[in-house]
Amino acid sequence: MATGTRGDVVLDIRGLRTHFFTDDSVIRAVDGADLAVRRGGTLCVVGESGCGKSAMARSVLQLVEPPGRVVGGRILLYPSEGADDPVDLASLHPTGRRIRAVRGREVAMVFQEPMSSLSLVHTVGDQIGESLRVHHGMSRRDARGRAVELLDRVRVPGSARVVDSYPFQLSGGMRQRVMIAMALACGPRVLVADEPTTALDVTTQAQILDLFDDLRRDTGMGVLFITHDMGVVAEIADEVAVMYLGTVVEQGPVDEIFHDPRHPYTRALLEAVPRIGVPRSRRLPTIRGAVPAPGTRPTGCVFRTRCPEAVEGLCDTTVPPVTVPGPGRRVRCLLQEGPADGTTGEETTPTGEESVHVD
Ligand SMILES: Nc1ncnc2c1ncn2[C@@H]1O[C@H](COP(=O)(O)OP(=O)(O)O)[C@@H](O)[C@H]1O
Ligand SMILES: [Mg+2]
Repeated sequence: MATGTRGDVVLDIRGLRTHFFTDDSVIRAVDGADLAVRRGGTLCVVGESGCGKSAMARSVLQLVEPPGRVVGGRILLYPSEGADDPVDLASLHPTGRRIRAVRGREVAMVFQEPMSSLSLVHTVGDQIGESLRVHHGMSRRDARGRAVELLDRVRVPGSARVVDSYPFQLSGGMRQRVMIAMALACGPRVLVADEPTTALDVTTQAQILDLFDDLRRDTGMGVLFITHDMGVVAEIADEVAVMYLGTVVEQGPVDEIFHDPRHPYTRALLEAVPRIGVPRSRRLPTIRGAVPAPGTRPTGCVFRTRCPEAVEGLCDTTVPPVTVPGPGRRVRCLLQEGPADGTTGEETTPTGEESVHVD
């Protein structure tokens, strides 16, 4: 996080911009997002559908598909010791050698729908072992042995049998465990998980969240966990980044975000969470209005068209800078008092669509 020391930060995203260039418009899916993941910590990115969470997650590994691409900002991946210079993943060519060396080995990703990333025609063991063979030159036999260990680690019962099975023979929860085993194979420093439990029933979801937490503790990797569900945030996050229309409007420690939310959007998200003790007949409040259509970004503060507190003549004309309401906290709201954050990665060339790729 920009307000703390950078010593324990493993992934630092600054001023990231990822746009989709369609025939008739430019969709600014991510537009100046800042966040930081700590070693051994779980940062949850939360926001409604369409806010750019997946585009941001995919940007980290340069997996944004055309017509989208990373057009600005930095994605700094820090090496283990913290002393060396970080690599800027945003500057790497999406199909180049360097990003391919990072994928799977240093940063791994788990998606919402395991079947979209698993092969139908290869066994579970072959798929888990593939990155070990590619990145570490392991023999097929050794990779299979390691795959069994990894299946045990993600608590797949009967690992010696499952290793030779095919994904379609497994339940949704087991497939997601296989995906997590694949992600862990090379001992990544960062695990990016994009709504990995959204397609699962609540019991399986709880088990997978526990698993993520145990793995994070055991390995010390940093987890960037994406969800639209504040209940999941409460379960798993140390820190929370609240995303709206491509920007992070608030970031801070989970307890503070829940007990003292500063951004009106964070408050609205929290008010929409069901509460224990409130009669079921009472309808849940929803956030008024809808996320604006892609390609139509409000001027000034992006949330102001739905904000109950918006001030005319201020919120529609001024882009909110980052203020620091307390240690480790950042918020982008013009109604917030507090010192400005002098350490954000805001780019000085906000309109440039150019990006420089090195490989
Ligand atoms: N392939 C694409 N082409 C055009 N627009 C896209 C594409 N993928 C995503 N978008 C747009 O980018 C925005 C962010 O999408 P996404 O990152 O999927 O949001 P989230 O994961 O928060 O639901 C949305 O407005 C979406 O319509
Ligand atoms: Mg998504």
